[in-house]
Amino acid sequence: MSEPESNDKPLNLTIYVWRQKDAKDAGGLVKYDLKGVSQHASFLEMLDILNEQLVGKGEEPVAFDHDCREGICGMCSLMINGRPHGGFPATTTCQVHMRHFKDGETIYIEPWRAGAFPVVRDLVVDRAAFDKITQAGGYITANCGSAQDANAILVPKDDADRAMSAAACIGCGACVAACPNSSAMLYTAAKLAHMHNLPQGQPERMKRTLAMVDAMDAAGFGNCTNHYECEAACPKEITREVIAMMNRDYAKAALSYREPTAKSDGAG
Ligand code: FES
Repeated sequence: MSEPESNDKPLNLTIYVWRQKDAKDAGGLVKYDLKGVSQHASFLEMLDILNEQLVGKGEEPVAFDHDCREGICGMCSLMINGRPHGGFPATTTCQVHMRHFKDGETIYIEPWRAGAFPVVRDLVVDRAAFDKITQAGGYITANCGSAQDANAILVPKDDADRAMSAAACIGCGACVAACPNSSAMLYTAAKLAHMHNLPQGQPERMKRTLAMVDAMDAAGFGNCTNHYECEAACPKEITREVIAMMNRDYAKAALSYREPTAKSDGAG
């Protein structure tokens, strides 16, 4: 992300924050005036400042998700001015700094909007639907024994690069929030692609694809209709190529995969 020039002039901001007591509450945007926010503060630190002020006044602080605050864990999940993570390239919400905003600016902050990600409170959504997809097949069940020497299984450089790119997915859900269909195909395909580009992922490839796509559908996510908003919103720059790979595998698996029996090897 190219960084804008900053100076030390503190910012006075008007922010509208989605406040919602619980899943049943209708919720709504609440206006707050924040004065003297450092341009060097991160976006989440700006919310920390707001919360300190709210607590000081005896009001409920704003609930929002975060953990690592360095773009690794995928916990932060805010729609900033209608864009997941604020729409800055390859940037999670926790990596956004206040120097990207102007003095006097109005900022709208909302939770992810997707039926499969219900709001728990304020800006926090339940992303357990992603866990269900990964639990359906995002692992290798073969008993691998002790770790082999890293060079014992040769992997072409291009395949290793593709697997690593897909494995960069942090499961934040920006792809779902950006998609007009609330599709989780970029997430699901990334989780498949990081194994299916490697030799270790091949034996269960068809079974895994069917299980994870079925879990994705069962969780209530929409389908992909080629808007590519997911790719644009992904803070880890995962491309739609993984979706093409998943769709090819799913077609093959739906036509040819059979559950392994005791006599078969399960390779599909
Ligand atoms: S808080 Fe961990 S990625 Fe943002």
